[in-house]
Amino acid sequence: MNKATRRAVIAGNWKMNNTPAQTTALINEMKPLVAGADCDVVLCVPYVDIAAAVEAAKGSNIKIGAENVHFKASGAYTGEVSAEMLTACGVEYVVIGHSERRQYFGETDQTVNLRTLAAVNAGLTAIVCVGETLEQRELGYTETLLKYQTKMALTNVTADQLKNIIVAYEPVWAIGTGVTATADQADEGNGFVREAIAEMYGKDVAETVTVQYGGSMNAKNADELVDKVNVDGGLIGGASLKAEDFSIIVKAASK
Ligand code: 13P
Repeated sequence: MNKATRRAVIAGNWKMNNTPAQTTALINEMKPLVAGADCDVVLCVPYVDIAAAVEAAKGSNIKIGAENVHFKASGAYTGEVSAEMLTACGVEYVVIGHSERRQYFGETDQTVNLRTLAAVNAGLTAIVCVGETLEQRELGYTETLLKYQTKMALTNVTADQLKNIIVAYEPVWAIGTGVTATADQADEGNGFVREAIAEMYGKDVAETVTVQYGGSMNAKNADELVDKVNVDGGLIGGASLKAEDFSIIVKAASK
């Protein structure tokens, strides 16, 4: 299997944006624009918007995801949400280990791994985020860091469960900054992720795993990025808040 046979996935990560009413309106605007896409289309939304998103997306090709999940099934974990709660609400995907969670909320490689296991064991597709900071890149640690984060995140994930894993390479310096990695940098980073998966599961298995790029991907640069051999779609922040821009990215990945 190679890029020609791996299905691209374009996922929006809304972060802390949109009320339920805004969610309904935005998804209704997006639906006709992304209908018939030849890639998977996902919107990862805040917990409080999930019900509205699932309802609005009904009957369309848009799948709904959450932005995080706790690793325990239930219990005294104030403010947290379990994988079972998400699937019960119609959620099919979940973002795990986003750099904003690592940076602001104490997420570690260990908790990223636990959340990933909880997600795939519940039948969710985990979009696991990895990425280096500018400092780590400048010190020459990009490959080491990406491989380490990927391997930590996938520890104890079975080869069979990899069908429910997407890895998103998101260089921290490219997130929300308007600075996009060049297509070659994105391809190289995604390649390091795929190599790490190959080192764990073998090359053939690694070729089947969807690896996205994320970080200031937009309507203008999507074409060039998704064209790269190791880039199987994208995880989109800011541009997923605008129906038109998001649909242009979906179209780029559908070619
Ligand atoms: P931006 O597209 O806004 O840079 O965000 C990328 C991102 O963090 C997606 O998870």
